[in-house]
Amino acid sequence: MTTYKIENGSLITLRLAEENDANEIINFYKQVGKETTYLSFGENEYLVTTEQQISTIKEINTSKNNIMVLALVNSKIIGIGTISSSKRKKSEHVGILGIVVSQNYFNNGIGSRIIKYLIDWCKTNKITTKVSLSVRKDNLKAVALYEKFGFSIEGVLKNETLIDGKYFDILAMGLMLDTV
Ligand SMILES: CC(C)(COP(=O)(O)OP(=O)(O)OC[C@H]1O[C@@H](n2cnc3c(N)ncnc32)[C@H](O)[C@@H]1OP(=O)(O)O)[C@@H](O)C(=O)NCCC(=O)NCCS
Repeated sequence: MTTYKIENGSLITLRLAEENDANEIINFYKQVGKETTYLSFGENEYLVTTEQQISTIKEINTSKNNIMVLALVNSKIIGIGTISSSKRKKSEHVGILGIVVSQNYFNNGIGSRIIKYLIDWCKTNKITTKVSLSVRKDNLKAVALYEKFGFSIEGVLKNETLIDGKYFDILAMGLMLDTV
């Protein structure tokens, strides 16, 4: 667990998700699903039950190459970062990064803290050697943030996302941990 202060004086805590966070996590994902179109799920599409969320957290916390980190202010979730990896030998070394911060807390360095936490964890779990992610090409802020941490663009998936009749390209980005 790590705690620090942001400019407006709020104390931010970063810690691993626990099973009793399940309902708060669901509510948070439902909320951010409304706030942004940059996530893979839209409004009313985070259809996970409490039992399913608990079982996911249990699985994450007993695995060596998966993690869910919560950013909290006064015990309220304001950001979540995840590394999700396969159990299969051929791909267990690839950690897929997911991140979202509540829009009320954008541009306070919280996303950067979460990404650093995830990358540092990957470097020490003795399995992950590459971090991958997918990001909408027009999500310039996220792309800049990933580049700041050393991610590079590995490819473009054309028309992968369709929102209200408009297609968007997705960038595949990657970070090799043995070179950072
Ligand atoms: C992307 C996201 C996680 C960033 O979180 P955050 O807490 O606002 O990030 P930070 O405050 O650490 O960093 C923001 C950086 O982007 C920069 N920035 C802000 N707007 C920008 C823009 N339009 N273009 C480029 N950079 C921008 C800021 O200056 C800051 O740069 P710095 O680190 O050099 O100071 C957050 O905006 C978010 O959750 N967005 C919606 C969901 C999403 O897009 N998730 C990623 C899906 S792949």
